[in-house]
Amino acid sequence: MEVIIKDTYEEMSIEAAKIIKDAIHLKPNLVLGLATGTTPIGTYKELIRMHQAGELDFSKVVTFNLDEYVGMPSTHDQSYHYFMHENLFNDINIAPDNVHVPSGVVKDFKRYCQWYEDEIAKVGGVDLQVLGIGSDGHIGFNEPGTSLASRTMVVTLTEETIRDNSRFFDRIEDVPRLAITMGVGTIMEAKHCLLVANGKKKAGPVAALVEGPITSQVTASALQMHPNATVIFDEAATSKLKRIDYYKWTYENRPEV
Ligand code: GLP
Repeated sequence: MEVIIKDTYEEMSIEAAKIIKDAIHLKPNLVLGLATGTTPIGTYKELIRMHQAGELDFSKVVTFNLDEYVGMPSTHDQSYHYFMHENLFNDINIAPDNVHVPSGVVKDFKRYCQWYEDEIAKVGGVDLQVLGIGSDGHIGFNEPGTSLASRTMVVTLTEETIRDNSRFFDRIEDVPRLAITMGVGTIMEAKHCLLVANGKKKAGPVAALVEGPITSQVTASALQMHPNATVIFDEAATSKLKRIDYYKWTYENRPEV
C-alpha cells in the first residue's frame, strides 16, 4: 500500500486529483469508481478546476458510484445521485449515459445488484476506484462484519454510520437504515484503489486500515491485500499511525516511473 501524507486537506485533494488526471490522460475512456462523503469534495473541486482550465476531458470517462441509500429517489437532496451531480457531474463534460450511480428505488434488488456488477464487467472493470473511509472503518457502505469477498448488495447501516450521516438530515429518524453498496470483493477488483481521509476523527480508522490486522471488522483493511492501493491522508488523520516517518521517507524517495 502506498501511503501519502500531505500537510493539509487541500494538498491531499490536489494529490488525489492529480492521480485521477494522470489516469485519464493515459486512458481517456477510464472507468472511474467514485465515492460520496465530505472527504472527496475537495478532490472533485480540483477535477472541476482542471476541466475548466482545459486540462481534463471527461467526454469518454465512464463512472460507477459505490453506493446509495435504499428508498431514496435520485431527486432527494440527500441522495448520492444528487450529491454527485451537485459536486462533480454538473460541472464537467461527462456523458450522462456514462454515469452509473446505484439506484435506491428498484423493485428487485437482487437482480439489480447483479445487473450493476454486469455493467461494471461489460466495460472491463473499474480502472481507478476513489474511496473514503467511514468512522467505523467501512468502505462504500461495507459495515463491520461484512465479508471481504462481498459483491454489490443491500446492507443494514450501523448505528454509528446513521449517527455520522444524520448531520445532513433534519432528524436522525430521516436517515435511511438500508443502503445498496458495491461489495468489498467488487471494490477489490478495481485495478487501482485510491482512498482519501482527513481530520483527527479519521485517525483511528486510518491506523486500523494501514497498520491493523486484515479483518472484516474494518472492511477498509482489505486494501492491505490489494496489489495497487494508494491512500492519501492529511497530517491530522495520521496521528495514530506508528510508521509515519517511514511512509514519508518512502514517498520522498519513490522511484520515477
Ligand atoms: C459514507 C459513504 C462512504 C464514505 C463515508 C465517509 O458512509 N458511504 O463511502 O467514505 O460516508 O464520509 P465522510 O467523507 O463524510 O467522512
